[in-house]
Amino acid sequence: MPQPPLTILAISGSLRSGSYNTAALRAAQEAAPEGVTIEIASIAGLPLYDADVQAAGFPPEAAGLGERVRAADAVLFAAPEYNYSMSGVLKNAIDWLSRLPDQPFAGKPIGMIGASMGLLGAVRAQYHLRQSLVFLDALPINRPEVFIAQAHQKFDAEGHLTDDAVRGFIRAHLEALAAWTRRLKAAPPPA
Ligand SMILES: Cc1cc2nc3c(=O)[nH]c(=O)nc-3n(C[C@H](O)[C@H](O)[C@H](O)COP(=O)(O)O)c2cc1C
Repeated sequence: MPQPPLTILAISGSLRSGSYNTAALRAAQEAAPEGVTIEIASIAGLPLYDADVQAAGFPPEAAGLGERVRAADAVLFAAPEYNYSMSGVLKNAIDWLSRLPDQPFAGKPIGMIGASMGLLGAVRAQYHLRQSLVFLDALPINRPEVFIAQAHQKFDAEGHLTDDAVRGFIRAHLEALAAWTRRLKAAPPPA
């Protein structure tokens, strides 16, 4: 029986044009299971979080991203690792959205992948991201985890994923996220 379609909003924690994490999200778009559409949202336009700015009114970039998160069935993060944690721009985006009324990550199914040039594939960044998501009452999947280590060896100069094992992990992660999202839709946890 065909499953109802799902839309996943993907957020990369890297702004650079040659980002391996953004490239991994493009690979995820191509590897998405049938019925799953992945839209990549940019966090480049968000100002630095400032409570004074918030008090004067949420910037449209923050409000707009929050709306997109709310409208999506699930969110997929790609987290680069900066100094053993997530990147500042990703944390900044999460900080903005966390202050929105009707905080959009609450109850949201979440997937996460990460690419780094080191040997551990952004594992520490992903665990810090997971920790923030716990506070926001999001519902990240536990496994399969996707740690894209030595990313410079897994993508070509145009940012195409060249490693079939990584492609398989991403595909498995998306299948698990889709199953988790459908399970939560069928039986939402108590508010
Ligand atoms: C400020 C900074 C800190 C970094 N810290 C780490 C680190 O802790 N662990 C790691 O594996 N790579 C680290 N790197 C290297 C990143 O893995 C590499 O730059 C990677 O390409 C970033 O992801 P992107 O390609 O999506 O931009 C760091 C890079 C920068 C710029």
